[in-house]
Amino acid sequence: MSPADGAGPDVSRVLSPVNSVLGLSLILAQTSSPAQAVRLVTTAVPSIVASHRAVAWHPSRSGEYYERAPEHVAGLLAGLTGVARLEVEGSLSCWAFPISSPLTHEQIFLVVSGPDDLSDQETFLLTVLAQLCGSVIANQELIATLARRMEIHRSLTGTVASDGQAGIAATLHQLTGYPVLIVDTQGNTRATAGPGLGPAPADHPLANQGAARGETQWAEIVRSLRTALRAAYHQGAWLMPAMPEADVLSVIALLDPDRTATETDLAALEHAATVLSVELARLRSVSEAELRGLADRDREVAEARTAMLAASEARQRTILETALDAVISVDRDARVTYVNSAFERAFGYRAEEMIGHDLADKIVPPSLREAHRRGLARYLATGQEVILNRRIEMPAMRADGTEFPAEVAVTRTGLPGEPTFTAYVRDITDRQRAEQELIASRARLVAASDAARQRVTRDLHDGAQQRLVATLINLQLAEQRWDAAPGRARELVGQAMNDTRRGIDDLRELAAGLHPAILTQHGLPAAVRALADRVPIPVEIDVPGVRLPAPIEASLYFFCSEALTNIAKHAQATSAWVRLEIGGDLCVAEVRDDGIGGASPRLQASGLTGLSDRIGALGGTLTITSPPAHGTVLRATVPVQGSDRLNS
Ligand SMILES: Nc1ncnc2c1ncn2[C@@H]1O[C@H](COP(=O)(O)OP(=O)(O)OP(=O)(O)O)[C@@H](O)[C@H]1O
Ligand SMILES: [Mg+2]
Repeated sequence: MSPADGAGPDVSRVLSPVNSVLGLSLILAQTSSPAQAVRLVTTAVPSIVASHRAVAWHPSRSGEYYERAPEHVAGLLAGLTGVARLEVEGSLSCWAFPISSPLTHEQIFLVVSGPDDLSDQETFLLTVLAQLCGSVIANQELIATLARRMEIHRSLTGTVASDGQAGIAATLHQLTGYPVLIVDTQGNTRATAGPGLGPAPADHPLANQGAARGETQWAEIVRSLRTALRAAYHQGAWLMPAMPEADVLSVIALLDPDRTATETDLAALEHAATVLSVELARLRSVSEAELRGLADRDREVAEARTAMLAASEARQRTILETALDAVISVDRDARVTYVNSAFERAFGYRAEEMIGHDLADKIVPPSLREAHRRGLARYLATGQEVILNRRIEMPAMRADGTEFPAEVAVTRTGLPGEPTFTAYVRDITDRQRAEQELIASRARLVAASDAARQRVTRDLHDGAQQRLVATLINLQLAEQRWDAAPGRARELVGQAMNDTRRGIDDLRELAAGLHPAILTQHGLPAAVRALADRVPIPVEIDVPGVRLPAPIEASLYFFCSEALTNIAKHAQATSAWVRLEIGGDLCVAEVRDDGIGGASPRLQASGLTGLSDRIGALGGTLTITSPPAHGTVLRATVPVQGSDRLNS
């Protein structure tokens, strides 16, 4: 069996929706907007519930990522607080799952509709998915709110700063009559006052220092001013630093190209620098408080995120815990990080005995460990996938060292970044046994039909064929003696006619063994009666006169035939019973005796084994109840669903 074909249909039915939701939860976390998250969830619904479609609806309005629900659904949604099935005309199955967003308290629903009703598992998965989607949206909304607040903060401090500094520049200009510039340490003009220096940057060499001359040169000037106690003259301007603390935040400049400023002008400049220092200190403490507030909010966001992450992990765990398969997660070094309870049951380890241990040491049989480690190393080095994302069959080992055949599907999780792996392991002992039993029973059917063919060939050869050969010889002899010895010829013809009659009898008997004519012509009650007449003890018969499809009638006939023959051969019984009952889509045939019991199929193919195969071929089952000294009951249960039952 190829690994890809390994799974029965039930595996994918149970696992693939669970896997879809797990995969989605990982991708959901990567989405950048509520609209994207909702789009992802609605388009993914058909992969969880085939042929269902999904929409995000609000009872009364539409928004960025949801639509206003149509009139006939809106009323139903408005009253909902949790998951509910909606009775919508014209729709066979319609369910609403709340997408709750704790920030906006929006009543938005993931409405899923389709032709079939949802199973419990599907309802559960969709509930989890809607909740996950809600958490992701809440997270994104929280981040968007924070970004908006930071924007307001920036523009607010900007306005306060330029108003305050513009006031100082204007005052100094009034006091001295010289144009005034306030430039920050990065060389950006913060405020100007005086002719030719409007709100836009002036063309004075000091204006827009950063852009015009390169920040290095301006930084050099600012550094040299750091120790200045008095205004310094530089490139046609008097410069004075504003230093709220040890570092310079701004430089206030009095533009005086002809160097005519008086001592009083320079004192005003120095005084303005002190006022500017105070103003800058105030701005700084305001912005520090703001920053502290921001940091608090940052922390709140981080805490909210962590809580949400924990909640979403808890939900993932719930899904894994309800999975029927053993689930195990490992990190890139193949150390176990998680096992679910199905794993504990299947392997006989408790979770704490697994966590942190090397996977191979625990559950891979020793003969395969080296290959397993090489495979992981190759994947990590080259990305070459050997067993990823497909189903493979391999032996696994329990805590007590016993091995069992397992079907394993490994997926890579934790994308992007550190690779981690999750494996789904299923014990397929029963399935393999059933497959082997099926193969063996097919082989027995083939052998039985070969044997039957050989028997027919032998019977024809020994019976009818011999008689016909004898007939032919006698007729030839008669022809030769027709004239010479007519009396002898007549005798020979008589013999030929006898042989022909016996040949016909042989053929009839043979045909009856292949398919009894009485069954075809008169049905089961008569055929069973004929069988019972051959048994030397009384047989009570209770078989209704209902016609069944020919293959079923034939199998039931051979069932009764073998059972009655066994009674005659082995049971030492005083009475026997044959009963047939048809109820619903099942037909139950039972043959019972009061003999010595102890019937059981022999190792080599025998009558009972053949019966079991014959009944199995019809999709039915054969049970044998035969305690010693308490008689024997053989019961064949055969489905008759869909077959035309003909009333006679
Ligand atoms: N009704 C019965 N009462 C007691 N023992 C039975 C009865 N039916 C079967 N057995 C026992 O079970 C064994 C298996 O039965 P089965 O019909 O498979 O084989 P068989 O009758 O011995 O040979 P075959 O049917 O191949 O000619 C028999 O050999 C016999 O010992
Ligand atoms: Mg038998």
